[in-house]
Amino acid sequence: MEVLKTVNLKKIYQVPSGDVRALDGVNLSIEEGEFVAIVGSSGSGKTTLLNLLGGLDRPSEGSIYVRGKKLEDMESEELTIFRRRNIGFVFQNYNLLPILNVYENITLPMKLDGMRVDEEFLNHMIDSLKLREKLYHMPETLSGGQQQRVAIARALSTKPAVLLCDEPTGNLDSVTGMEVVGLLKSSAYEFHQTIVVVTHNEEIAQMADRIIRIEDGKVKGDTYEE
Ligand SMILES: Nc1ncnc2c1ncn2[C@@H]1O[C@H](COP(=O)(O)OP(=O)(O)O)[C@@H](O)[C@H]1O
Ligand SMILES: [Mg+2]
Repeated sequence: MEVLKTVNLKKIYQVPSGDVRALDGVNLSIEEGEFVAIVGSSGSGKTTLLNLLGGLDRPSEGSIYVRGKKLEDMESEELTIFRRRNIGFVFQNYNLLPILNVYENITLPMKLDGMRVDEEFLNHMIDSLKLREKLYHMPETLSGGQQQRVAIARALSTKPAVLLCDEPTGNLDSVTGMEVVGLLKSSAYEFHQTIVVVTHNEEIAQMADRIIRIEDGKVKGDTYEE
């Protein structure tokens, strides 16, 4: 089943020096359960694409479908709820809430949606991400890599159908990075999740089922790995 689809997706940013074509006609179809890496140089449009797929920003042209629902047809409140129930996001700059401790940050999406906290699942994730000792610490006291792992735990906490990760291993050493991607893969398998990971680390990309390469806002390659 198709979980993510874009049709002629364009995003143009207007800046004083002229228009920036961040995405220039992207057509993609991603199936349920796929683990996809999006690779491209800095400025190629990766973050823009992820933000649009997650309904965090609106396209200039074209459409986005998530689980068959066209995002532009939704009112903002409906979109907020749809996003919370279906999409997990790991931001490049983590976006942790500074006034909440690690545990509160991780469980926030569940609380917002009135979901019961699955303690067993949560404990497993906290240990896998090596966050046990930091559970009651505040985000500002954590290293970049630790904050990144909290952001990953938060995104996984609701077992979203779609998980979008922007450079989720950017601040991790290579061993931890591979471990985190391993965790994402096993989570995807266990909960039938579709995962899209933006990376410019080839080693990480090679762990994906499929690699989509973008350049200047266009898809320049789309290959399935063995
Ligand atoms: N909010 C914005 N306003 C203006 N230009 C932007 C904005 N966000 C991104 N861009 C530009 O769009 C292009 C793609 O950016 P981005 O999607 O962040 O690339 P990547 O994540 O691949 O590094 C770049 O040229 C960037 O400078
Ligand atoms: Mg980026």
